[in-house]
Amino acid sequence: MNPVRKMKIIVAMDVDAGIGKNGNLPWALKKDMKFFADTTKHVMDSTKRNAIVMGRKCWESIPEKRKPLPGRLNVVLSRSQPEKIEDNLIFVNDFDKMMNLLSSEPYKSQIETIWNIGGAEIYQMALDKELVNEMYVTHIYKKYDTDVSLSTIDFSKYERLKLQDDENTSNVVEENGVRFEFCRWKV
Ligand SMILES: NC(=O)c1ccc[n+]([C@@H]2O[C@H](COP(=O)([O-])OP(=O)(O)OC[C@H]3O[C@@H](n4cnc5c(N)ncnc54)[C@H](OP(=O)(O)O)[C@@H]3O)[C@@H](O)[C@H]2O)c1
Repeated sequence: MNPVRKMKIIVAMDVDAGIGKNGNLPWALKKDMKFFADTTKHVMDSTKRNAIVMGRKCWESIPEKRKPLPGRLNVVLSRSQPEKIEDNLIFVNDFDKMMNLLSSEPYKSQIETIWNIGGAEIYQMALDKELVNEMYVTHIYKKYDTDVSLSTIDFSKYERLKLQDDENTSNVVEENGVRFEFCRWKV
């Protein structure tokens, strides 16, 4: 049995850790979408790609014409949908089965980073199983109307890492009057 790999979480949250509303994101922030795409696509070894693991509800929130998200192996967790394995898309009905699959060949060699892209159920499961080694969090300095949150994370327990090598780089950005900050936390 191969050792189970660790994963990285990428999430955007408001001041109260709200992450979703009516099955979608509560905000539309292009700069955060670009950060998400760039970060989850980035590989050190150009012969590899990354996996993005998500819950069925997160998958359904992605517009049809953009699915599967390009340049990454899309892995969807669902107990209600049939399992399938295609080149760019996997549906699997159990979290541990999914982690064992991605920790075994051929994925073990082909996949550089396993990104957990949510939603709340899938983030929480990975945290509870202690399978997360880093969290990339967009902290949005605004309160939104949300119905899904990830308020269980106590950031005071984690070390904040530099996002980039340049220590002086500010990770705070603004879009349409909304301030948000890209942060990286070591778990
Ligand atoms: N702000 C952000 O960064 C961010 C990121 C992602 C998502 N979101 C938002 O979060 C919301 C969705 O989050 P959510 O927590 O409601 O749903 P979710 O985590 O996206 O999906 C939940 C679904 O995943 C499947 N699932 C969960 N645990 C499983 C397991 N152990 N094995 C197999 N399948 C499993 C089940 O699908 P079945 O019912 O098919 O069995 C379950 O209904 C949306 O509003 C979305 O826009 C926000």
